[in-house]
Amino acid sequence: MVTIKSTREITLMKEAGRVVGLVFKTLEEKIRPGMTTLEIDEIVEKTMLDNDCIPAEKGYYDYPASACVSVNDTLIHGIPSSKIVLKEGDIVSVDIVANYKGYMADACRTFSVGTISSRAQRIVNVTKEAFFEALKLVKPGNHIGDISHCIQEYVEKHGYNVVREYTGHGIGSQMHEDPVIANYGKAGSGIRLEPGMALCIEPMVLEGRKDVRVLPDGWTVKSRDGKLTAHYENTVMVTESGYEIITMYEGEE
Ligand code: MF3
Ligand code: CO
Repeated sequence: MVTIKSTREITLMKEAGRVVGLVFKTLEEKIRPGMTTLEIDEIVEKTMLDNDCIPAEKGYYDYPASACVSVNDTLIHGIPSSKIVLKEGDIVSVDIVANYKGYMADACRTFSVGTISSRAQRIVNVTKEAFFEALKLVKPGNHIGDISHCIQEYVEKHGYNVVREYTGHGIGSQMHEDPVIANYGKAGSGIRLEPGMALCIEPMVLEGRKDVRVLPDGWTVKSRDGKLTAHYENTVMVTESGYEIITMYEGEE
């Protein structure tokens, strides 16, 4: 069931989204070579708790941390670890969900560690651009499939692939609500968008083949071919006139 959010619910989700943005602003300044992915997790957790939010990923289906921190060929759900040390040239995606008084906001950024190669920069850029291309289609009356189709077309046009096994989703008092928002599909398919819907649109992009595998830890999703991956996500409200992103910090590009 797709829920339509009340004004009160939107206000709470926006506060969760503000804190998600604040976490990214903090990480943008702090991520550097030598840092571990566990240190990123600690910053995420502290920033959320200091701002009256609960890190919603912790304990979700027994997920052990406050953030998913995924380096290079890890596409999603990387478990933070003191043994994973970031090095110059890595790309690291940080996917987080804040819960403010029972309402959620979910977003992901792929950060650069020091100076990165033009090859790595290109997949990071295309992944983010795919989100903003699809965003243009978020308005009442358009279909979920318009978003899915747009992401797939943009990503494949640039020579990359989208993941098939994982999708974007609705969000609200639950981290994952209807509708499912695949990164591939047919324009005009699926439900129509209505004001008050909250959508997590999240291109998950593979440089090489589209195939992924899950590590024995039950979470970490990597590209099968070991090539690079990137992920970009925001929580987006459908409004009367179009959309509003609620998980970017002021001044964020
Ligand atoms: N934030 C992820 C998403 O985009 C969910 C992570 S799974 C969890 O849907 F277990 F870490 F929460
Ligand atoms: Co999400």
